[in-house]
Amino acid sequence: MAAINFKKITNLYLSKAINNMKKLQQAFLVALVSLFFLISCNNNPTTEQSMKKCSQISWGTADNKPVYLFTLTNSKGDIVKISNYGGTVTSWLTADKNGKIADVVVGFDSLSGYLAKPPYFGSTIGRYGNRIAKGMFSIDTATYHLATNNGANHLHGGNKGFDKVVWDVVPTPDSLASLTLHYLSVDGEEGYPGNLDVTVVFTLSDDNTLSFDYSATTDKTTPVNLTNHSYFNLTGDITQTILNHRLQVHADKFTPVDTGLITTGVLQDVKGTPFDFLEPHAIGERIASVPGGYDHNFVLNRTTADNELVATVTDAVSGRVLEVFTTEPGLQYYTGNFLDGTIKTSQGIAIQQHTALCLETQHFPDSPNKSAFPTTLLKPGEKYHTVTAYKVSVASVK
Ligand code: GLA
Repeated sequence: MAAINFKKITNLYLSKAINNMKKLQQAFLVALVSLFFLISCNNNPTTEQSMKKCSQISWGTADNKPVYLFTLTNSKGDIVKISNYGGTVTSWLTADKNGKIADVVVGFDSLSGYLAKPPYFGSTIGRYGNRIAKGMFSIDTATYHLATNNGANHLHGGNKGFDKVVWDVVPTPDSLASLTLHYLSVDGEEGYPGNLDVTVVFTLSDDNTLSFDYSATTDKTTPVNLTNHSYFNLTGDITQTILNHRLQVHADKFTPVDTGLITTGVLQDVKGTPFDFLEPHAIGERIASVPGGYDHNFVLNRTTADNELVATVTDAVSGRVLEVFTTEPGLQYYTGNFLDGTIKTSQGIAIQQHTALCLETQHFPDSPNKSAFPTTLLKPGEKYHTVTAYKVSVASVK
């Protein structure tokens, strides 16, 4: 009897202990899940909604992966939307000099617009921003052949560059107006050597600065040149051109191109050319003397390794000012030359030529084939790190 009782008591204690362990396990799981929701940028409506600076909604799927649209909000009421599809800035709502809010970047309201492969509206560009001649380059004795998606040349990372992939979302506290995206570009993707591990942190600060912090590591030497391809129209009205915007670029030189838009290797003085933006000029003032419009890389006059102011765009009508800061040596100035009205906004408005401009911070185009240009090669053990920021403000009324 005593033995039976002992067994019963033992079993009782054992089952209690197991139950307690199960409860502990459950509590641990609940705590883990809560922690995840607490630190992820998510969109569960709560009474503390106003405290949130980052929220998210589901935005469909691509490559069988979930796509989200994130909304970053700052204390000034600026709203920037970014998707993990292509690391794409889809919208930037900001006030003009009269306090009227409008979108200053070109983008779509739904994922379908992006799946139709527009010309990189707001996208994160990689592995290499701009062109690599004939999609070829050599490192030591090895020659690499990349996807050629722009005539004979390679443009913006190839057929399926970083603008067309679904990035992983790295949990970030939703009390910050910040989004961290990660992408592993595998060895051989679009022809590039090495597994490239990339992280981009997008942050909207309270002074209306949207910054992009790019970092990457590789396990084989590879060229890397990451950028963002936002198209700006400071009027906030896509039916207006950007030809009356005034541009200033701190660059004494630019890189001329051949007929295939490949850099010739020359660093040419801007003095006496339509590329002299050392003092502000209206974009439309000399554009007619640039065949096809501006689509050129400026060699920036850098004085430090910091995130320096390199260009300013102003629009007198709205009073909006865009300042571009970067740690990069180059800036691709593109005046939306290939926009021809065939692509429509989500509201059905045809996007015409010169209705938006891009200021893509970067290393010089075709650097892998131009040994005199600053190198774009990233080696195993090194860390790629660049920063770019766009700041929108309103000029004081004179
Ligand atoms: C970059 C290129 C342009 C064009 C656009 C996208 O700015 O330099 O030639 O390809 O991207 O259309």
